Amino acid sequence: MDTFLKALPKAELHLHIEGSLEPELMFGLARRNGVDLPYQSVEEVRAAYDFSDLQSFLDLYYQGMAVLQTPRDFHDLAMDYFRRAASEGVVHVDLSFDPQAHLKRGIGLDVQMEGLLGAMDEAERELDLSTGLILSFLRDEPVASAAEVLEQAQPWLDRIDAVGLDSAEMGYPPGPFAEVFRRARELGIPGVAHAGEEGPPEYIQGALDDLQVIRVDHGVRCLEDPGLVRRLKEERVPLTVCPLSNVRLKVVERMTDHPLPRLLAAGLTLTINSDDPAYFGGGVLDNYRACHSAFGWGQETFRQLARNALEAAFMPEARRQALLTELAV
Ligand code: HPA
Ligand code: ZN
Repeated sequence: MDTFLKALPKAELHLHIEGSLEPELMFGLARRNGVDLPYQSVEEVRAAYDFSDLQSFLDLYYQGMAVLQTPRDFHDLAMDYFRRAASEGVVHVDLSFDPQAHLKRGIGLDVQMEGLLGAMDEAERELDLSTGLILSFLRDEPVASAAEVLEQAQPWLDRIDAVGLDSAEMGYPPGPFAEVFRRARELGIPGVAHAGEEGPPEYIQGALDDLQVIRVDHGVRCLEDPGLVRRLKEERVPLTVCPLSNVRLKVVERMTDHPLPRLLAAGLTLTINSDDPAYFGGGVLDNYRACHSAFGWGQETFRQLARNALEAAFMPEARRQALLTELAV
């Protein structure tokens, strides 16, 4: 099974590139940029990753990304992840990034884009890894700030595949961002949004109705609303589920309690993803493996999950068809 899961052409649709910052690289970049870290060792960093909920993770996530200062830092961050992903049989990554979190620290969008786009081009050339880019807004920052970032992003619109919505969910429903997402669609950019990770099913409904998203990130709490489950099924809305993340952030207590089997039985369009692999104990392959251990799924289930991801990914049609053919044999 392990050989099968590794060889499966996997696409990752829910990956925060800042959440792929491994402690080793964090120390390397801190040294390069003269940034002080509140840790003495890699072991100490890993020991600090003991989260009680989403916010306790976000606090360390925003702290960790302070080492990212130059285009080269963003490039090295992304390449470090792309190499690891490619070695695990990942063939495509839709990576998201949080521009506002860097702008707040005085790091311009041009710095972020230069580093990330350079790494994406290099991955396509050297690792045969295709990539899509999601510009994510922080839902716990003012809507006006999101609107401003979208306007600032105009020079790179041809490289941005979607806008997203992440950060602290409870108390931050999607509705207020309707106009920003409408403006993005007017610019030709579709939306995706985190919803129903910690937040209630109403936030998933809001992401669909108010933001008109084409994928829902997480979405696991949809099960609390049968009408919503029916809608997600009928409209075949892809959910980017991140099981190891849900365990680490205590959305569920343990893997065997995860709602994935129920989501699957409900006929939803599911994909398996890593979210923030450096913080949550593993990449896409580890998430597939954890599902195999917990649920005992067979090859056909994993093949279907991988197919769902290829079908929902932001990639050129010719590549999608080639990868779907590879998956079928
Ligand atoms: N949820 C919300 N915001 C995030 C996450 C997440 O899992 N990771 C990075 N930002
Ligand atoms: Zn996420």
